[in-house]
Amino acid sequence: MTTHTQGSGRILSGMRPTGKLHLGHYHGVLKNWVKLQQEHECFFFVADWHALTTHYENRDILADNVWDMVIDWLACGINPAQARIFLQSRIIEHAELHLLLSMITPLGWLERVPTFKDQQEQLKDRDLATYGFLGYPLLMSSDILMYKASGVPVGEDQLSHIEITREVARRFNHMYGREPGFEEKAEAAAAKMGKKNAKLYHTLRKRYQEQGDAEALEVARALLADQQNLTIADRERLYGYLDGSGRVILPEPQALLTPTSKMPGLDGRKMSKSYGNTISLREDPAEVERKLRTMPTDPARVRRTDPGEPTKCPVWEFHKVYSDQKTQEWVLNGCRSAGIGCLDCKQPVIEAVKAELAPIQERAREYESDPERVRAVVAEGCEQARSAARETMAEVRSAMGLDYR
Ligand code: TRP
Ligand code: SF4
Repeated sequence: MTTHTQGSGRILSGMRPTGKLHLGHYHGVLKNWVKLQQEHECFFFVADWHALTTHYENRDILADNVWDMVIDWLACGINPAQARIFLQSRIIEHAELHLLLSMITPLGWLERVPTFKDQQEQLKDRDLATYGFLGYPLLMSSDILMYKASGVPVGEDQLSHIEITREVARRFNHMYGREPGFEEKAEAAAAKMGKKNAKLYHTLRKRYQEQGDAEALEVARALLADQQNLTIADRERLYGYLDGSGRVILPEPQALLTPTSKMPGLDGRKMSKSYGNTISLREDPAEVERKLRTMPTDPARVRRTDPGEPTKCPVWEFHKVYSDQKTQEWVLNGCRSAGIGCLDCKQPVIEAVKAELAPIQERAREYESDPERVRAVVAEGCEQARSAARETMAEVRSAMGLDYR
């Protein structure tokens, strides 16, 4: 089957405002964003409405969390000269697109998104039997389709949301991506191929559309390519009529799966605020040192003279992120032979984490001391996002017949 590359080359991603970020965010997400912004037109936004889908009763989580997170983005090297940084709730068009897409989104699609049931299970202390929570993936679809993004960097947990976004886009294009009278014009074009070919075309189209028969699609396309007496416009109509695509108004985005972060937490589990095992990006260097010095090691090393096994030790996971091969060998040998102590072993990691954080913290301090500058960066990003959003909404309204007068 021919795959159409759709879209603009734009990259879009969002993050819920969780406040100050930690090393897991840096290694898992932000380093990737920094790289992407150098190669693509990027839109990065704070998904503040998304925070309200689960924490709607808490009006205080937004203000501080949003600005702290934006400061950390900037401190990590997200560059406002390269990427647009904006706030979801300041682009009111997202709400309009969410509403309009809700008209054509079958309830079952949303109910079947795995995170819907999972999260309700996990966040038992909250009432998530709400309309907003059910619609969460569709709000995310609106965020993405608004900018006609080609690529959306996300983690594994978000893949089902990209999938539903693609389905919604397909359905939208199928339903509205047609000029007025599209079907009649396509039928008339088919008739121009002569009775026999028209009949074959209709049979193949039906086989593809009703049974998903990809071979029928190929044969029908070949049939169209062979027709001498069709105009280009008629041929295009018949292609679109054949696969049901019509004109593409909202391109289907591609998920850019971010490899699961190698960044372990202080206890060896994934670094996460809910496990309390984080080193935050703005952690005081003395505190970084304390946290690393006290982090657990291979329990077999009770005494300095007991040999250990790095693969059973969370410190080794840090060495895998931060140390060169020579240091890694020093750890493997020294640990297994009890040649080094755990504090010796931790020292290179302590130095590396502090060195990594120093420039980030310096930039963070600059932005912290100049909140107006942060506000201005975001205001500028919002302007740019809004103008892209307005263009899309004009097309969407017209496609849905809302531009009547
Ligand atoms: N749902 C995402 C998360 O929880 C955040 C998000 C909202 C997002 N809208 C998006 C991510 C659009 C990518 C694209 O992490
Ligand atoms: Fe872990 Fe290093 Fe101690 Fe071995 S020497 S147990 S790898 S901290």
